[in-house]
Amino acid sequence: MEDKKIVYSGIQPSGTFTIGNYFGAMKNWVKLQDDYNSLFCVVDMHAITMPQVAADLRRRTYESLALLLALGIDPQKSILYVQSMVPEHAELTWILNCNAYMGELSRMTQFKDKAQKQGENIRVGLFDYPVLMAADILLYQTDYVPVGSDQRQHVELARDLAVRFNQAYGDVFKVPEAIFGESGARIMSLQEPTKKMSKSDENLNGFISLLDDPKQIVKKFKRAVTDSETEVRYDRENKPGVSNLMEIYACASGASLEAIAEEFSGKGYGDFKLKVGEAVADTIRPVQEEYKRLLADKGYLEQVMRNNAEAASRIAWRTLAKVRKKVGFVTV
Ligand code: TYM
Repeated sequence: MEDKKIVYSGIQPSGTFTIGNYFGAMKNWVKLQDDYNSLFCVVDMHAITMPQVAADLRRRTYESLALLLALGIDPQKSILYVQSMVPEHAELTWILNCNAYMGELSRMTQFKDKAQKQGENIRVGLFDYPVLMAADILLYQTDYVPVGSDQRQHVELARDLAVRFNQAYGDVFKVPEAIFGESGARIMSLQEPTKKMSKSDENLNGFISLLDDPKQIVKKFKRAVTDSETEVRYDRENKPGVSNLMEIYACASGASLEAIAEEFSGKGYGDFKLKVGEAVADTIRPVQEEYKRLLADKGYLEQVMRNNAEAASRIAWRTLAKVRKKVGFVTV
């Protein structure tokens, strides 16, 4: 790899990606890959922290890879790979576990939210999820982690673990930094705009999947929750629905929030919602076509998986070998 700064990020193959994932993270990944040494990972080991059906997980791993390629991740420029195919992740997780505190993991808001869904039998993997994420990042001596703002706390933990390990054993890890796109760091549900848009939302009208049919997309935007006023104005606190739609429109069209407010001044919400829906549908239509083409080419997807897992593993091993030595594992 050339001597450039390193960018690392990941996405779970659980459900189809939403425009929240795209505008919050992947759009940024596509841009960054030109200027950085980038690694992007389909994190199937994170996905099994929630119950999964094996055949579905396998299928969605292929689909996720195809979608990332369709969005413009170029395997000639970036290392695009599947987490479970690189065993170094699991081994570093164990070593980091032995340096992570129960207290700091208990404070993770995503854990608290998701634990509620698992009832009484909360799995250890769910609790430990941020340590696996730290291992992902630290294995590659990452400089920047482009994510949506819901992952900020997890990247903070990765930083804390890196610093703690370096202090205890000597410098091994680079201390990474989270970075966020200009807008779209937090796209909210169309139905409950104070809640993050999520691919696992039970209310299908709450999120836009990147594979939704364009007509369906426009329909979902028409149903989006707004407020009892009529003014298209950005005010996250008092007008969360409208502000979210403005942000989505900004991401899809490239227009600024001010320009959007001006464009719709004096017009009702109906017209505004329709325009947002059309802009989103236009953005993702070409992606869907490319996705279908790629998904039909299983041989190509498998070749990308194989080659990139090898490339990732070579880099990961360099870090892991140092870590193993530092903690006192014998190598003969
Ligand atoms: P995941 O799969 O939940 O989401 C993937 C990326 O999409 C962003 N995102 C959003 N951004 C804006 N608005 C939203 N509504 C929205 N929903 C999701 C997320 O912030 C994320 O950047 N733990 C991670 C995956 C991961 C990872 C890593 C990321 C595993 N290892 C190492 C970075 C580095 C996750 O579950 O993302």
